[in-house]
Amino acid sequence: MSTSMQFPDGFLWGASTSAYQIEGSPLADGAGPSIWQRFANTPGNIRDGDTGDIACDHYNRVPGDIALMREIGLQAYRFSISWSRVLPSGRGQVNQAGLGFYDKLVDQLLENGIKPMVTLFHWDLPEALDNQGGWLNRDIADWFGDYARVMFERLDDRVQSWATLNEPWVVADGGYLHGTLAPGHRNLFEAPVATHNLLRAHGAAVKVYREIGRHQIGLVVNLEPKYPASGSDADREAAARAHAYMNGQYLDPVFLGRYPEKMKDVYGAAWPDWPAADFDLIGQPLDFIGINYYTRSVCQDDPGAYPVRAVAVRQKLGTYTETGWEVYAQGLADTLDWVAQRYGNPPVYITENGAAFFDPPVAEGGRISDPLRVDYFQKHLRAIHGAIAAGVNLRGYCAWSLFDNLEWAHGFSKRFGIVHVNFATQERTLKDSAYFYRDVIAGNGAVLEEIVPRPSVWHGEPMWRD
Ligand code: BGC
Repeated sequence: MSTSMQFPDGFLWGASTSAYQIEGSPLADGAGPSIWQRFANTPGNIRDGDTGDIACDHYNRVPGDIALMREIGLQAYRFSISWSRVLPSGRGQVNQAGLGFYDKLVDQLLENGIKPMVTLFHWDLPEALDNQGGWLNRDIADWFGDYARVMFERLDDRVQSWATLNEPWVVADGGYLHGTLAPGHRNLFEAPVATHNLLRAHGAAVKVYREIGRHQIGLVVNLEPKYPASGSDADREAAARAHAYMNGQYLDPVFLGRYPEKMKDVYGAAWPDWPAADFDLIGQPLDFIGINYYTRSVCQDDPGAYPVRAVAVRQKLGTYTETGWEVYAQGLADTLDWVAQRYGNPPVYITENGAAFFDPPVAEGGRISDPLRVDYFQKHLRAIHGAIAAGVNLRGYCAWSLFDNLEWAHGFSKRFGIVHVNFATQERTLKDSAYFYRDVIAGNGAVLEEIVPRPSVWHGEPMWRD
């Protein structure tokens, strides 16, 4: 019996972006600077000196970009708000022009039948707040709650899906521990404090939402299953530490009211005792969890690896993306299963999933053949279809990303888009993956059953031959 690849009725198909990665014009119309504006404009932080000053120029191109979303048939568009556009100093005076940009974006999406999914924080903290300690200052929970209130009051009449934070793990690990992302700190003692205040801020925003919001709110985390490289106790422990650090550290406090025990092992003396009352704030009930999934890691014990004492082992037979991530769709099914088992099968959306591959130049006729990205999506969509059949409460899927965009410290060198962007001309071209995704959406998954690969071309020649 063949399994139908139809997804459940009402399954939501979307694509994601974030403010600093696509908007450009970060200081336009009264906006204040964010830490990403500062970080990117500090030489040495971003590959090739790239910045988000122009990026995809989305700030000036909303109508055309929404037309592209329609062409693909997106039912939802997940984007983030730039906090310092709305509140140039992070708190206090609202910048009506900044708020107005998002207000209009929401209206235009709805006019085109596209559901807005809004993330309040995708890493671009107002610089003014960073100058007061940023995520290290406990007051940030109130600052974030106040900012969230401004957004809910203005948009909740039309926006039905909210997320507080995008990937708090990346903020703490990249921004405060390893210094590869803004604000660029490298401090073992700061990272847990940043994590804890991110989670407190998340809770504060959810609390405000329960007062005045009428729809749904959740948290977006990036999850990555950690498999031991061997059956040895040392490797199993290494994987368990890496898993607690990246996965449990964020969902356990939210759903179970405590951090994983292993966090003490990971951070040692840098792991504080937290005030018990904080967990009431952090543990506000949620309407959904957003999961960003890209890859897995296979962990080997390594006492020198900081901070989890585990290194990822490269798989000989694996396919790796341009960011060095193994293509491993089973890991997504395993992740969904883990969340369902551990946290009581909450409603889940895949809020990001995708891959950076080196794309060929736009061919004559405007075609961009990106077979590896198409293959990545096919595999992961098949995996989530299986997870739904197994009972996971999965409600929707967003591809990362709608556009090639500023891939943080990698600059524009890594392309994740299903739509190609020529950064010199701002011309947009749908890649094969966008057409593939259009067919997936149009048939609610049916196309996955009868995939006939389109011939791949490289500089006009077939890329693969029999
Ligand atoms: C982030 C995106 C990023 C993507 C690919 C996620 O960690 O939310 O902003 O571009 O992964 O690295």
